Amino acid sequence: MQTYERIADLRNALKTARVEGRSVGFVPTMGALHEGHLSLIRRARAENDLVVISIFVNPTQFNDIDDYEKYPRHVARDIEMAAGAGADVAFTPAMDEIYSEGFDTVVVVRGLSDILEGASRPGHFQGVATVVAKLFNIVQPDHAYFGEKDYQQLQVIRRMARDLDISTEIVSCPIVREPDGLAMSSRNVRLSPEQRKAATVLNRALGYTQEIADTGVHDAHILSGWLARTIEVEPLAKLDYAVIVDRETLLEADRIDNSPIALVAATFGDVRLIDNRIITPAPGLERRG
Ligand code: PAJ
Repeated sequence: MQTYERIADLRNALKTARVEGRSVGFVPTMGALHEGHLSLIRRARAENDLVVISIFVNPTQFNDIDDYEKYPRHVARDIEMAAGAGADVAFTPAMDEIYSEGFDTVVVVRGLSDILEGASRPGHFQGVATVVAKLFNIVQPDHAYFGEKDYQQLQVIRRMARDLDISTEIVSCPIVREPDGLAMSSRNVRLSPEQRKAATVLNRALGYTQEIADTGVHDAHILSGWLARTIEVEPLAKLDYAVIVDRETLLEADRIDNSPIALVAATFGDVRLIDNRIITPAPGLERRG
């Protein structure tokens, strides 16, 4: 594993690979790696000649300074784990390497960035889009890998890549879960044992929503009502939103005939968690709702 802290050094190393005609797969991360990140790295390994990961806790996407400061940082361990999953190169820039004095440019994906996570975390997706655009320019990957766990982020990046004619192909990877169903997240370590147990309500509520759909209820508002109520009965969960939306526009769906996606966000103590699941209509069942 080669590690670079400077953009110029990373670019030099990647230039050689590119001259040799090797394809480059890229996995951007904020570190504190877990199996979710490793699944992205393994997929990149399987599909590219060279696998690059970045580890950078990006301050501009945190709307809460406390969340930024508490974000877990274990770079040495991350590099070891990434190498074990098949990464060849790690880019671990310092803050001033990414945001130099007088940095003054932002990338804004309008509309998609303003709803749901964007409404709860103003400026979040501007920070994400800007840093990902920069990382794409630095690495110039053939393929970049993102988790479906951060579903809205994935859609924001797809839209940015499309609108700005970024030639990198965006590849999405399924959510990796703990054995009890909780979606893996770097923030899970901040949950108390009680909150950790309570947090399983998110995936359970999503599964329950699909079960209701399986009985023939295809009205998205009825289903999202059940989804919200199932989370709200958990005393340690403070629900932010529970919605069923179109998979591309993220606008609320009326029915689930086109397999929309259920998105949830809730806070457990001071830890904000998100999860999602595509809701499919019951095949061949008469429409009831
Ligand atoms: P981070 O939260 O470290 O996540 C890096 C990548 O791992 C993202 O694409 C995320 O969706 C994916 N990921 C996280 N948990 C996952 C899980 N349980 N299953 C599958 N994939 C999972 O997302 C970011 O960093 C940042 O916003 C970033 C894109 C790096 C820009 O700063």
